[in-house]
Amino acid sequence: AKFTIVDKDTCIACGACGITAPDIFDYDDEGLAHVVIDHNKGNQIIPSSLEDDVLDAFEGCPSDSIKISDTPFNGDPLKFE
Ligand code: F3S
Repeated sequence: AKFTIVDKDTCIACGACGITAPDIFDYDDEGLAHVVIDHNKGNQIIPSSLEDDVLDAFEGCPSDSIKISDTPFNGDPLKFE
């Protein structure tokens, strides 16, 4: 299982992730991204059918703001850094 979360402190609102993985990422009024399946807590298992999209978004984020882990983030994007 994989989990994902956006570090909104470093997101630069580039807008790539929501295009690459629209079922996982969306933006707030300022264009900053978040994970829609768990309100950006990083606690909800990514559906396996969407894992490839999330990996593509992870690799495409210019500010490395998308985090991926095998265990839940519990709301902290820097939990494993
Ligand atoms: Fe932000 Fe990276 Fe998405 S900069 S909008 S988290 S691709």
